[in-house]
Amino acid sequence: ASTLAAAAQQSGRYFGAAIAAGKLGDSQYTTIANREFDMITAENEMKINATEPNQNQFNFSSGDRIYNWAVQNGKRVRGHTLAWHSQQPGWMEAMSGNSLRQAMINHINGVMNHYKGKIYAWDVVNEAFADGNSGGRRDSNLQRTGNDWIEVAFRTARAADPSAKLCYNDYNIDNWSWAKTQGVYNMVRDFKQRGVPIDCVGLQSHFNGNSPYNSNYRTTIQSFAALGVDVQITELDIQGGSATTYANVVNDCLAVPRCTGITVWGVRDSDSWLGANTSPLLFDGNGNKKAAYTSVLNAL
Ligand code: XIL
Repeated sequence: ASTLAAAAQQSGRYFGAAIAAGKLGDSQYTTIANREFDMITAENEMKINATEPNQNQFNFSSGDRIYNWAVQNGKRVRGHTLAWHSQQPGWMEAMSGNSLRQAMINHINGVMNHYKGKIYAWDVVNEAFADGNSGGRRDSNLQRTGNDWIEVAFRTARAADPSAKLCYNDYNIDNWSWAKTQGVYNMVRDFKQRGVPIDCVGLQSHFNGNSPYNSNYRTTIQSFAALGVDVQITELDIQGGSATTYANVVNDCLAVPRCTGITVWGVRDSDSWLGANTSPLLFDGNGNKKAAYTSVLNAL
């Protein structure tokens, strides 16, 4: 195979990228994105502040630009994200208690209904666990509505669009020995035992000096999969851009049948939220394939 998507398809997987609506007029960007990737995530355009800027006034203009570009080019779409402590519109940041809980439910219904039947998988809840050694939930206005907010989000999502896979997505849950990973693992196990609808776990996989790739990543993927959920690598970037580490990530996914796909969080280094100087992606700022690209292609 000569592209990432075609190479991933050889094992029934996808290879995706985060795409920004504001760059769809950049022909170098769209040429690479269209050629190499077969799954698209909106980098910001389907987040809460983008889709419901004023309460109960939904706006899908930017999200639809991404969605339409993807589908017109034969690609599937991951939805990102419905319930999150970050990138909330001001009106939601100011809310608490039962009114916030109802606003979360209304938001999930509004966005999922607009994209009903069109999304491969939704990141229903994003980044709900705390960093550090507690293994517990992150404090947030959503968490303060009650510990059941995550399962309410998932039950709401299942009813809104039964055709979408429903994912829990987080960072720093890649390293099996970390308390945060174990906290999420215990939640997913509990959800499966109690019949709370969940289909997948997204490992964001932003690797850097403080949270480096660890060889127990494969154990993490295997362990989640053994609970009966798919695993997706949803926001991969590697600061420093090590070709070896990129290959390790791909090999770990390919070792687990229920690891269904990999998404990188941007196209060129110059598109990365981390800044081009960290060299985290597969194409350089001129759109050239990096050593990491070849490493990934060969590993797939
Ligand atoms: C980032 C985007 O890349 C930036 O453009 C934005 O300013 C902030 O959010 N975890 C996530 C993503 O789930 O939504 C974040 O995306 C990166 C970390």
